[in-house]
Amino acid sequence: MADNQGVAIVTGGSRGIGEAISRRLYDDGFTVAVLDLVAPDNLISDGVVQHFTHVDVTSASSVSTAVQEIVATYGMVDVLCNNAGVSTMQRVVDMTEEEWDFNFSVNTKGVFLMTKAVLPIMIRQQRGVIINTASMAGVKGVPLLAHYAASKWAVIGFTKSVALEVAQYGIRVNAVCPGFVKTSMQERELGWEGQLRGMAPSEVFDEYIRLTPMQRIEEPEDVAKVVGFLAGPDAAFITGEAINVTGGANL
Ligand SMILES: NC(=O)c1ccc[n+]([C@@H]2O[C@H](COP(=O)([O-])OP(=O)(O)OC[C@H]3O[C@@H](n4cnc5c(N)ncnc54)[C@H](O)[C@@H]3O)[C@@H](O)[C@H]2O)c1
Repeated sequence: MADNQGVAIVTGGSRGIGEAISRRLYDDGFTVAVLDLVAPDNLISDGVVQHFTHVDVTSASSVSTAVQEIVATYGMVDVLCNNAGVSTMQRVVDMTEEEWDFNFSVNTKGVFLMTKAVLPIMIRQQRGVIINTASMAGVKGVPLLAHYAASKWAVIGFTKSVALEVAQYGIRVNAVCPGFVKTSMQERELGWEGQLRGMAPSEVFDEYIRLTPMQRIEEPEDVAKVVGFLAGPDAAFITGEAINVTGGANL
């Protein structure tokens, strides 16, 4: 483990991409605080996560209480990874308003609420890094995911706009855009997409690999490595970017 780099908050840090981000930031020397609906039991027992609060990122009061608790405990927030996200799959003609709202409330409003809660602390510190997990679906159209894609395009617009507002305080705001990543979200999507397209989940999985020029499924660590880079000093002059980490699937 490297020297202490400060405190990093990872939303949705208990599973999938968020778990890999938590591990990577811990290895890089951060004190990692996870805010999630489920506890990161393995990460706590491995000593990776020092702080966990049960948080729903769609709730302003839940978010604000959790951030206040972290500041009271550690006195600072160096990195915020807005990674919590959800998806559902449906053709637009059959999509319900509830599905639309669910995707936007977690993927977009959650990023706004967390950013709003943490920015005053970073502005006071005159430094900080925010990294939003957007998606390949935030830079291109994806059938069956119009609501999800719209929510992730919004995250990129938010990232670029906030980056412009806070650069003067030494705060950098970037996004990562993963492709087909092997997580529980993907597991659920394989089932839904298979059902909607009359395919077996394994056939959908093979198609994801075919759609990826680098010819393998993406691992959570592929994303975490780029998040680690963006959080660290080598990215000191990068802000407002949305970096594709897709093995070429976004091209
Ligand atoms: N898996 C992929 O292929 C893929 C591709 C592109 C982008 N992404 C994005 O990456 C991020 C992580 O996805 P994943 O694949 O690891 O998903 P996942 O479902 O495996 O993990 C998501 C985590 O977020 C938490 N979470 C969900 N709703 C929450 C809420 N309201 N409040 C707090 N925590 C909440 C979950 O409990 C879980 O721990 C998401 O933003 C997702 O949209 C995933």
